[in-house]
Amino acid sequence: RVAHAGIASSPPGMGSTGPAGEVAPREFPAGFVFGVATSAYQIEGARREGGKGDSIWDVFAENKGRILDGSNGEVAVDHYHRYKEDIELMASLGFGAYRFSISWARIFPDGLGKNVNEQGVAFYNDLINFMIEKGIEPYATLYHWDLPNNIQQTVGGWLSVKIVEYFALYAEACFANFGDRVKHWITINEPLQTAVNGYGIGNFAPGGCEGETGRCYLAAHNQILAHAAAVDVYRRKFKAVQGGEVGLVIDCEWAEPFSVKTEDQIAAERRLDFQLGWYLDPIYFGDYPESMRQRLGDDLPTFSEKDKAFIRNKIDFVGINHYTSRFIAHHQNPEDIYFYRVQQVERIEKWNTGERIGERAASEWLFIVPWGLRKLLNYVAKRYGNPVIYVTENGMDEEDDQSATLDQVLNDASRVGYFKGYLASVAQAIKDGADVRGYFAWSFLDNFEWAMGYTKRFGIVYVDYKNGLSRHPKASAQWFSHFLRGEEAGN
Ligand code: NOJ
Repeated sequence: RVAHAGIASSPPGMGSTGPAGEVAPREFPAGFVFGVATSAYQIEGARREGGKGDSIWDVFAENKGRILDGSNGEVAVDHYHRYKEDIELMASLGFGAYRFSISWARIFPDGLGKNVNEQGVAFYNDLINFMIEKGIEPYATLYHWDLPNNIQQTVGGWLSVKIVEYFALYAEACFANFGDRVKHWITINEPLQTAVNGYGIGNFAPGGCEGETGRCYLAAHNQILAHAAAVDVYRRKFKAVQGGEVGLVIDCEWAEPFSVKTEDQIAAERRLDFQLGWYLDPIYFGDYPESMRQRLGDDLPTFSEKDKAFIRNKIDFVGINHYTSRFIAHHQNPEDIYFYRVQQVERIEKWNTGERIGERAASEWLFIVPWGLRKLLNYVAKRYGNPVIYVTENGMDEEDDQSATLDQVLNDASRVGYFKGYLASVAQAIKDGADVRGYFAWSFLDNFEWAMGYTKRFGIVYVDYKNGLSRHPKASAQWFSHFLRGEEAGN
């Protein structure tokens, strides 16, 4: 397990994030939402119950060698059967909001949007009703990577433009069935991960497209169109009556230039184009960033004039999933980084000063850099005209340690430090002027961490996989509970 993380020193020109212990709810605007987040495949289990169809992750995880520990989400942490216990715990800790995802294949087992599965609707009705009964506001994600396998089999999943219509039908069914109670919707979670890891590299479902790495840009393109189609349905048929809002969740690391050299500064900008701008520029400005067009040429699909008009401004808020930051340097022909041709390399340490970007958590990509979130939020605010932002995920993992005692694993001091540092960073971004309305910790429960299986634990609540999946709040959950009570005391 990682040692106490602490807060990395800030780069020049950036005030320190301040002593970790100081963050308090009174530093956030009135009405600021504090919640926790999860996703269906990672926690629900009940793969074959309630009339659910298979998703691409059900199938992907069956293939040997795909998941580090050979596991899958068939049972996961059994949230499908334990949702009441979980929501009760969430409420008792003091959280006011819960970001969960709906499994598309529970609503439409074949994905095609014609035969709604009433048992699936009933499950989410029960879940949502129970949340509301316990005073927790639902934030629902429509797509968190578990595509109905039938859509993959019949049309090639996100590579086919047909999916835009299927997704709109699915979104419409969710708005119609749950929108009287759900007022905050997220269409798609981290489209970049589906594009790059799902349809490009292939370490995520559906496992890539061999020899066709450029296809990841098509998978991204169709996700943008599908997102816009869902927002369009909402605005045309539901908005006036239900009065909710619909956003898109983008995953973005902060890209800190490796040096003061112009080429490194530009490379860092380019990195942000290839993560954030890839999705948000088309929606806010009507087209992909120029740096992507330059490097990708015809591998990057084009929007017709009609598409451009259709997707523009189809968003009510930006969801940001943020975990980490990187030093970014220019590189003419990088070999071992993202296959998409961004012409930059990641560095975690400066050779001249030895300055490290931050301590590493358990995942090899996750470095603890609280100040990066403030910079990213300010960047989003500036680039897109100060949109409403929610931090829809933020958190860190620890290695699953089979030899540790329960007392030891519950004492997650480094995670407490992480949350204090990152929350302070959000509070500073708000003071800088960013319109951040809420923050969701990832994750409520330890769960199935995709290709890493159960080897990485992101939860603020420990799940004992060996003892009946029992739930045990970690020190970080207790810390949140005190933090949130402070809000009440401060009011
Ligand atoms: C973002 C994804 O949305 C979530 O599913 C995943 O578990 C976390 N990152 C941690 O890797």
